[in-house]
Amino acid sequence: MTIKIAPSLLAADFTRLKEEIQMIESAGADLLHLDIMDGHFVPNITFGPPLVSAIRPITKLLLETHLMISNPGNFIESFAKAGSGSIIIHSEATSDCAQLLGKIREFGLLAGISIKPKTPLEAIIPFFPALDLILFMSVEPGFGGQFFMPEILPKISQAREIIQKEGYQIALEIDGGIGPDTAPQAVAAGVNVLIAGSAIFGKPNPAEIIRKMKAIPVV
Ligand code: DX5
Ligand code: ZN
Repeated sequence: MTIKIAPSLLAADFTRLKEEIQMIESAGADLLHLDIMDGHFVPNITFGPPLVSAIRPITKLLLETHLMISNPGNFIESFAKAGSGSIIIHSEATSDCAQLLGKIREFGLLAGISIKPKTPLEAIIPFFPALDLILFMSVEPGFGGQFFMPEILPKISQAREIIQKEGYQIALEIDGGIGPDTAPQAVAAGVNVLIAGSAIFGKPNPAEIIRKMKAIPVV
């Protein structure tokens, strides 16, 4: 299992998105993480399908689309058509995860579920057979630059155990307050995809930060 790095565009300089995306791509990023917020599911508003279609042609990175929105089912088609490579819905935003995960896969995309820090793993275990990835929030969703919440780590180890026992192919990802200092404990708990915004963008040497996090030994 190798470590993959997904910089979160939310922390980029919005006046220079093309250069910022090309910079992290050449700095060794594996995916680009797009935080979609609607001001309703979370108390912030970011961007939507028009931005995804604008950046699709300027990068080869898979566009990981983190839907922090209510009624995510209403937007799966428009993000799929805009060029998303994966769509991640929040279990707290819908009572119909199974149907939405199936719809995401029908569009040929990777299907993921994200859970907030206080949501127990039990809320999503029934959907494991339909998942390509689980995104564990290590901050309350809505903003970049928050502090890492280590209390969510046991949920990751619990998920890792189930996946190994049942033989599922599910990537485990963590999102929020991740950087070279907090990533090692997340990798030790069992994640292999690290989302990082403020630890990468705006820093003097993003390539060095990405290299450091990729080099974290996997247990
Ligand atoms: C928070 C977002 C995260 C956030 C990460 O709601 O889902 O992806 O942008 O930013 P940092 O790495 O600065 O915590
Ligand atoms: Zn995110």
